[in-house]
Amino acid sequence: MEKGIKRVCAAGMVLGLSAGMLAGCGGGAGQGEPKSIRIGVSVYDQYDTFVSQMMTDFNEYAARREEETGVVISIEIYNAAGSQTTQNSQVEEMLDDGCDVVCVNLVDRTEPTTIIDMAEKNQVPVIFFNRELVEEDLERWNQLYYVGAKAFESGVMEGEIAADSFKEHPEVDRNGDGIFQYIVLEGEAGHQDAIVRTEYAVSTIVENGVEVEKLGYAIANWNRAQAQTKMTQMLSEYGTEIELVIANNDDMALGAIDALKASEVDREEWPVIVGIDGTDVGLAAVAAGEMAGTVYNDKKGQAQAMLDLAYELSVDGDLTELDLEDGKYIRLPYAKVGPDEVETYME
Ligand code: GAL
Repeated sequence: MEKGIKRVCAAGMVLGLSAGMLAGCGGGAGQGEPKSIRIGVSVYDQYDTFVSQMMTDFNEYAARREEETGVVISIEIYNAAGSQTTQNSQVEEMLDDGCDVVCVNLVDRTEPTTIIDMAEKNQVPVIFFNRELVEEDLERWNQLYYVGAKAFESGVMEGEIAADSFKEHPEVDRNGDGIFQYIVLEGEAGHQDAIVRTEYAVSTIVENGVEVEKLGYAIANWNRAQAQTKMTQMLSEYGTEIELVIANNDDMALGAIDALKASEVDREEWPVIVGIDGTDVGLAAVAAGEMAGTVYNDKKGQAQAMLDLAYELSVDGDLTELDLEDGKYIRLPYAKVGPDEVETYME
C-alpha cells in the first residue's frame, strides 16, 4: 500500500493515494473491466476545514471501493492554493498524466472555461464539486457533472435553529425588546453558499415569527482567524447588543467564539451562535454548548457520491443507479444538528 504518499510540485502539495490492493486480489473486476483507474482532484484551498475533511472521506471511501471491486483506484489531490491559474495548470497536468476523470473544486466558480475546453479536447469527464458553477457552464459539454448540496436548505435550517432559540429561551433577547439583533459572518463574496445561506437564514427567522434587526456583517472567507478579527471589531462597536451571530460556516462561528473568549463579555452574555457544516470542531462546539447548533453538510455523502460517479465514468459504467438530477447533478441534503443530535454525528 502506498497510501498518503506526498510529493511536492511547483503548484503546491499533491497527495497521492493508490494501489490499496493489487489488481485482481479478491476483486470483483470482471473480464474486460479495467484493473486500475486514475482520478485527479484539485481543491481550491487545502486548508479549508470542510473541503479537507471531505477529501479524507474521499480517500477512505476509495480504499473501501478498491477492496470491494479489485480495481486499483489511484487518486492525486492537488492544492490550487487560491489561484485559478494554478488550478488550470494542475488540470492540464492531470490530463497529460492520463487521468480517467478529473474532480475540480473551482477556485473561481465563474472561470471554468479553460478547464472545460481542455477536458473536452482530451475527452476526459469533469466532476465539479462544492463550488457550484452556473448552469450554462455545466451545459457546455455533455461530460460535465456537479456534486454538492442543496444550498438554500442549509440557510433555512440555520434560520430555524436561530428562531427556535429565540422562542424557547426568552433570555437570549438580552434587551427584552422582542427583536433579535444579529450580525452575519459571511463566506467568500460571490460564493453560491454564502449568498444563499445568508438570505435564507434571515428570511426563515422572520417567517418563523421572530422580528430581526441587522446590526452589521463582515466577509470572513470561511476562515476562523478572519472571523475572529471581524467579530472583535464588531464586538467593540456593538458589544452585548449582539444577540445572534449567523455564520455561513462553522469555522467562522468558531472564530466568533474565539473573539468572545478573548473579550470581556461574560459567558452568560454571549450571543446565540449558529453555524453550518458539522465539521469535527463545529460539532465539538455544539456539544460544549458554545454554539446553539449547526447544519450538517454531508461531506461523507458528497465524497462517496463523487467517488461513485468518478468510478462509473472511468470504467464506462452505468450511471442510472446514481440518481443524477438532469443527468448532471448530485445534491445531498443537509440536516439540523442541535444538542440532542450532536452525539450521533460525532461518531
Ligand atoms: C461550503 C462550506 C464552507 C467552505 C466552502 C468552500 O460548502 O460550508 O465551510 O468549505 O464550501 O467552498
